[in-house]
Amino acid sequence: MFGIEAPIFAFSHCRDVVVEVSKAGGFGVLGMARKNKELVDADLKWIDDHIDGKPYGIDVLMPMKYERTRADLRLDAEKLIPPEHMEFVRKLLDDAGIPRLPEQEADAIRGELLSAHNSTPEESMEMIKIALRHPIRLIVNALGTPPREVVELAHARGIKVAGLAGDVKHALLQKAAGCDFIVAVGTEAGGHTGNISSMVLWPRIVDAVSPTPVLGAGGVGRGRQVAAALALGCEGVWCGSIWLKTKQSEVVPEIKERLFAARSEDAVLTKSVTGKQCRTLRNKFTEAYTLPGAPTPLQAPLQGILWWSEGRTRVERVRTHDNAKPFLTYPCGQIVGDMTEEASVKDVVYQMLSELADAKERLDGIFA
Ligand SMILES: Cc1cc2nc3c(=O)[nH]c(=O)nc-3n(C[C@H](O)[C@H](O)[C@H](O)COP(=O)(O)O)c2cc1C
Repeated sequence: MFGIEAPIFAFSHCRDVVVEVSKAGGFGVLGMARKNKELVDADLKWIDDHIDGKPYGIDVLMPMKYERTRADLRLDAEKLIPPEHMEFVRKLLDDAGIPRLPEQEADAIRGELLSAHNSTPEESMEMIKIALRHPIRLIVNALGTPPREVVELAHARGIKVAGLAGDVKHALLQKAAGCDFIVAVGTEAGGHTGNISSMVLWPRIVDAVSPTPVLGAGGVGRGRQVAAALALGCEGVWCGSIWLKTKQSEVVPEIKERLFAARSEDAVLTKSVTGKQCRTLRNKFTEAYTLPGAPTPLQAPLQGILWWSEGRTRVERVRTHDNAKPFLTYPCGQIVGDMTEEASVKDVVYQMLSELADAKERLDGIFA
């Protein structure tokens, strides 16, 4: 479909990772979720200038249901975050001695967050139109099925469309919406994910959507897992967490240190960071939401705005301080338990390919 050498797709919010994966023979996909229009255009231009003509794609959050426009959200965000929720986060950080943000700065940050919060249908469309000015080869939809208009725009330009699915029902909807392939995301995955493990989910989705191709996602960070995905009927893999350990990733050193120390069990499912079930590194914040008396997380996107504007920003400003470190978190999957040191993107891709070749040889030996 794309003429790539390695069956490895990389989801990343970091343009450097996208470029390096495509240059190493895989396929980089840039997440748009945290970017405003100007940044999207600048990042895609930078990719075009550095990727040596290799293929790449974009990933857009296009929720199926969205009842508010950004204007509504901007007006309402303050009102919609109930004071007791704000108070809960404030007190947690106050008690840990993490300094508050000056009121004006907090307002500016909330405003900026809302401007980068580009997931209403109109905003997703604007992002896509900007991306169409660049030589993208793929548009992936993260939340729900891609709108017909997007599929038509893409296909008219020879651009492929794909969708993420955590169960068979959603995979069938993605196929019916016109997706050229499906990314089957097992519960091991970092970020928003469902409850079914990759081992069970991948072959189910492969069978359900056949002959539409499937990529296996969730828990892939090494070559034997790529071999498993191929054995289970997938055409390749889609990885997100493994790139966090790379020299090129956007992750700050203090968070990387926590990722390298984490076990698989520390990649917990929580609604406390976005309002939707998301696998993320356990920290004092996610823990606080599991204790008796904690509020039920707000619905997306408000819980995310609450955490980013009041929680994360306060914590990350003083992230080198010992009292802030236990509050640092990042979305990551269970593969985090295998991530112990930094490596270049190129080395990660080559190690995966080398282990894949070993796995094939082993299987060939067994069946010879
Ligand atoms: C830090 C991080 C951020 C993510 N953000 C998004 C996103 O904005 N859109 C999306 O479609 N998937 C996102 N994902 C999920 C990935 O697309 C993918 O499903 C997942 O990383 C695969 O499992 P793995 O983490 O075990 O490799 C994110 C994953 C991580 C680790």
